[in-house]
Amino acid sequence: MKIHLILSVLGRIVEKLKDLPLGEFIMKTTEIILKPIGIIRSPYKTKGDAPRQGRLVQTLGTVEIFPEFTEGLKDIEKRKHVILIYWLHQANRGTLITPTPDSPTPRGVFSIRSPGRPNPIGICTTELIERKGNVLTVRGIDAIDGTPLIDIKPYIPKLDKVSCDD
Ligand SMILES: C[S@@+](CC[C@H](N)C(=O)[O-])C[C@H]1O[C@@H](n2cnc3c(N)ncnc32)[C@H](O)[C@@H]1O
Repeated sequence: MKIHLILSVLGRIVEKLKDLPLGEFIMKTTEIILKPIGIIRSPYKTKGDAPRQGRLVQTLGTVEIFPEFTEGLKDIEKRKHVILIYWLHQANRGTLITPTPDSPTPRGVFSIRSPGRPNPIGICTTELIERKGNVLTVRGIDAIDGTPLIDIKPYIPKLDKVSCDD
């Protein structure tokens, strides 16, 4: 009975996918595997405690890099600002349209910075205060305590700064 059910579900999936061109089929079925490189420590224990954007606050937090990735921090002290890229692990991945504090009508998640989105990646440009071994102290974060960190990139004004009125 169970096998019958599994086969029928598989049959329906194959039926749906079989007409896709190979490239599209691969794209739609490929999983991208990310490995956290560390963990964000912040004073925010719940989503409700955190500010909407770290750039708007002065809060200090730390970023603990797992030992096997610490070598990758070499020379990071030379940077004034670092962009943290993290996985908003408590976000709703089914969200595509959502209300915002700034807009009376709900907006599409790709046009706003909502944590809820299909791939809940958060980014934040933070001020690098200090590095002690595998721990960075940064100013201006909005991730709750325990948020998995997936990457760090330096903020480089000549690459990242744009002039606009937004
Ligand atoms: C609007 S998002 C902005 C995130 C990032 N600065 C960005 O623009 O991609 C910040 C909000 O996400 C929520 N949040 C923080 N950490 C989270 C986590 N680990 N999982 C889900 N939601 C989180 C908090 O409610 C916080 O106010």
